[in-house]
Amino acid sequence: MPVYNLKINGQSQTVEADQDTPLLWVLRDHLDMVGTKFGCGIGQCGACTIHLDGSATRSCLLKVSMVENMEITTIEGISEDASHPVQQAWKEIDVPQCGYCQAGQIMSATAFLNENSNPNKSEIRDAMNGNICRCASYNRIERAVELAAS
Ligand code: FES
Repeated sequence: MPVYNLKINGQSQTVEADQDTPLLWVLRDHLDMVGTKFGCGIGQCGACTIHLDGSATRSCLLKVSMVENMEITTIEGISEDASHPVQQAWKEIDVPQCGYCQAGQIMSATAFLNENSNPNKSEIRDAMNGNICRCASYNRIERAVELAAS
């Protein structure tokens, strides 16, 4: 089985995996980093969102063989104690209901705010559009992104 050298949350990780193994499963099953969630497995829901070289990306669609030597950031790497401004805003607005999609939502929000630190409502809605929340906490998500940007 091939061995891959990955850079995750600033640390080097070596994993042995089939070349087609999705990064999502490498994170969850090989490295026990279970903050990144499995929702659909086909790139439709956003639950598995991570940052790849700073951009929000769906880890269920990335083969491990595609991401060697790239900067991978997961929800575990956003902050050690949930002190990132987006996480603080999430807490203040009390965004989650069931919570399952929230890691992916936060990863999308942080990547978006790194690119656009002063977004309007419509830009926020567009940026967060691909992250599905089955509890429909969309209004709170938008308000939290607004708060984090302020
Ligand atoms: Fe990757 Fe749904 S699990 S987009």
